[in-house]
Amino acid sequence: MTKTLLARDKQAVWHPFDIFQNTENLFLERSEGINLYTSDGRVIKDMVSSWWVNLHGHNHPHIAKAIQKQAETLSHAIFSGFTHEPAVRLAERLLEILPNKMDKVFFSDNGSTAVEVGLKMAIQYWYNLGKKKTKILAFEGCYHGDTFGAMSLAGTEPFNQPFEHHLFHVTYIPFPTKENIAAVKYQLIKELVTHNVAALVYEPMIQGVGGMRLFDQPLQEEILQLCQHNDVLLIADEVMTGFGRTGKLFASEYMEPKPDIICLSKGITGGFLPLGATAATERIVAAFTTKDKRKLFLHGHSYTGNPLSCAAANANLDLLLTTECQNNIQRIAESQKLFAQTLQKNPSLEWADSLGTILTMSLIPQQSKGYFDSQSEHAYQYFLQKNLLLRPLGNALYLSPPYCVTDAELQNAQETILAYLGK
Ligand SMILES: Cc1ncc(COP(=O)(O)O)c(C=O)c1O
Repeated sequence: MTKTLLARDKQAVWHPFDIFQNTENLFLERSEGINLYTSDGRVIKDMVSSWWVNLHGHNHPHIAKAIQKQAETLSHAIFSGFTHEPAVRLAERLLEILPNKMDKVFFSDNGSTAVEVGLKMAIQYWYNLGKKKTKILAFEGCYHGDTFGAMSLAGTEPFNQPFEHHLFHVTYIPFPTKENIAAVKYQLIKELVTHNVAALVYEPMIQGVGGMRLFDQPLQEEILQLCQHNDVLLIADEVMTGFGRTGKLFASEYMEPKPDIICLSKGITGGFLPLGATAATERIVAAFTTKDKRKLFLHGHSYTGNPLSCAAANANLDLLLTTECQNNIQRIAESQKLFAQTLQKNPSLEWADSLGTILTMSLIPQQSKGYFDSQSEHAYQYFLQKNLLLRPLGNALYLSPPYCVTDAELQNAQETILAYLGK
């Protein structure tokens, strides 16, 4: 039966990011906790939270029940001219826990749309104020999603080359290091004195898909401060870092200054349903509070503020904010930190680091540094054979497990990494 389904899958389904071409798709039958059960009887440990969405383990009953209950009363709502309790409650709860004093939450569908919304808010903010500030800044090596605005932010990173001529212009800030910071700031100041920069979009503390690289926090802060002093809006993309991944609820909590706009998705529903959210400060919201219809934020999606997604997100927050979950995050963070220290001396690595629940390392590149390095496929296969789901990004290898991972499961993954590196 499975064989037929796999053949039918091959025939009919176009999968995303199908980069490991020599790998047969595995047929998932069910999942529970960090376990993924395949039709051929394997139990694979999800050490990457299935693209960083899962927080409390797969199929957590509290979230499943909340969705079921919601589905029995209101499963979809047109979110213009109507509203509903799960969305209102979720927005209020997010505003309570988000860094900075955010004023309102705008819902969309995924990480890319959360970023698109943030970008459009920032661009239209200056338009509404009648100011010619249109330029967008981003960090080299960033990733913000796969829609055209989000792709433009990453520029000609490997995914985007075919679309190069259709992306809007973004000015890049080199990844800041102690060696280049003076030159980076000099270059940035030259941009800022033109007074036409609208916004900086950034991943706080750590770049995700671009290579799981940690920023030197004070250096990233220096850049944000320069931007803020020059009236550039700060858009924090917390799609990957949000909801506890980095050891705090949001990575922006570590940093000064705080953002004007925050983009969220992935962990927001604990890995159950798609949902994006973009929160903005009062200053931004005020620029759209007008009777002039052309200055309204005329953006939306059919599933904006979907009640099932919002119910899942509320149930997810119930779990995330418990002491038990927060203790788990700290327990994982401690273990990853110790393991990163062990790895720092490993000759197979360029570097190793950790931030909260994320462990990250850079394998010495073989063919080409970055996403297309052939090691990712080899490493992916190696770990899969050991029943561990790790999904290296080129030569970047990382662990980012759900917070219910046990010490033994984490230790097993860490030991398997050591065995891989020692090969
Ligand atoms: C920082 C960041 N922003 C945006 C996105 C895009 O999110 P989605 O895949 O839900 O569109 C991702 C996805 O990995 C991400 O890591």
